[in-house]
Amino acid sequence: MNISIIGTGYVGLPTGVGFASLGHNVCCIDKNIDKVERLNKGQIDIYEDNLKELFDKTVQEGKLTFAYSIKEGIQNADLVILAVGTPTEPNTNKADLTYIKEASKEIAECEIDRHIVIAIKSTVPVGTGDMVEEIINNENCDIVSMPEFLREGFALHDFFNPDRIVIGTNSEKAKNLLQQLYQDKNVLFTDRRSSELIKYASNAFLALKIHYINEIADLCEKAGANVEFVAKGMGLDSRIGNKFLNAGIGFGGSCFPKDTKALLETSKEFDSKMSLVDTVINGNNFRKMKIAKKIADKAKELNPHGEKQIRIAIYGLAFKNNTDDCRESPAIEIIQHLLNEKDLILEVYDPKANENAKKILGDKVNYYECPKLCAYAVDMLVILTEWEEFKNLDYKLILTSMRDDILLDYRNLLDEEEMKSIGFKYERIGKKYD
Ligand code: UDX
Repeated sequence: MNISIIGTGYVGLPTGVGFASLGHNVCCIDKNIDKVERLNKGQIDIYEDNLKELFDKTVQEGKLTFAYSIKEGIQNADLVILAVGTPTEPNTNKADLTYIKEASKEIAECEIDRHIVIAIKSTVPVGTGDMVEEIINNENCDIVSMPEFLREGFALHDFFNPDRIVIGTNSEKAKNLLQQLYQDKNVLFTDRRSSELIKYASNAFLALKIHYINEIADLCEKAGANVEFVAKGMGLDSRIGNKFLNAGIGFGGSCFPKDTKALLETSKEFDSKMSLVDTVINGNNFRKMKIAKKIADKAKELNPHGEKQIRIAIYGLAFKNNTDDCRESPAIEIIQHLLNEKDLILEVYDPKANENAKKILGDKVNYYECPKLCAYAVDMLVILTEWEEFKNLDYKLILTSMRDDILLDYRNLLDEEEMKSIGFKYERIGKKYD
């Protein structure tokens, strides 16, 4: 099949590489000419596991090409996938549909005279398919909703092993084409508006699950219980499931914060109530302040008279593991709160996200390429992203180089007994400490 994908970000590029590796002819289109030139030279701007290897292979096989003009990029397409960004609109909490509208106008100008399917993969509010149909205004084009559920950091894994493919359309022709594409997958066909809502309803539900376990963690800390046992016990009930019950520092990234806000706005537009989602948005914002305060309070304990500067090493800047993405990263927001405190010096390390963090935090913190150097002569070590790498460091060595011995593991990554036996004053989330 000839597939064109508009937008080469964290969704568009892995999707393009995935389809190309399955033998389809894929053209990835991006209006950013510099980006297309970099892609033509084999340079990828984002970090995703195994993406570079598969990218190189599919380009070499001639299955993956690039274009910056939509007209040129879709001329042979049977299927056009819209995977452009829908960030939060400045000044409102709605999804900004500028890129969707621009791409739709350009498709309209192509005056397509054969049947093609245009699938909207970007996360868009209910009713956007109708809007795109109106802009393109061409009976040869079937506008379909086909939301993306892949996770950053695991994009290719999720592309090849999706839980479900959701396709919203009433067109039999579009169904036939997409059935061919996903013949071995679990496909759910719905109407277009339901499909658009499935994406928001899913993301908001997962965000809600995380916020819920974070609140249970707070209760555990006060009541003397352990949130990890509670989550394990809850997860054994198959109706609840054991995923997305890891208590931590709050959710972040380019999806959950934006999509929960957009869903709330949609509910207001339709005069419908979404009080749970409202609570989750506010609760998650508050959580990052609360975690920053916990860290700042620990620092104050070490410096009761305010006569010295406390050095804190922070492991993790990305919004989660396996990605270089710092958009709405809770780690970054916690650091920003800490920067408002007096007498704190922040040393930071992330395996992949230092460069993206620099674009937000500038030179207000000190960046390290090595976790051991980052923790040298610090008073406290704080873990804020759940990287596997952090599980396997030589903490004995790290402790010997530290000035004091506090380890705040706010992603519940490490083995508590082991860290205590090494000599750390260790704390994690969702447990009571005296
Ligand atoms: C999410 C959805 O999972 C995916 O289906 C959708 O397509 C895009 O949005 P992503 O943003 O890549 O994916 O990250 P995800 O793995 O869902 O994590 C989101 C945030 O929640 C991260 O900050 C993560 O650290 C946090 N999280 C996740 C927790 O705090 N606890 C958990 O148990 C799970």
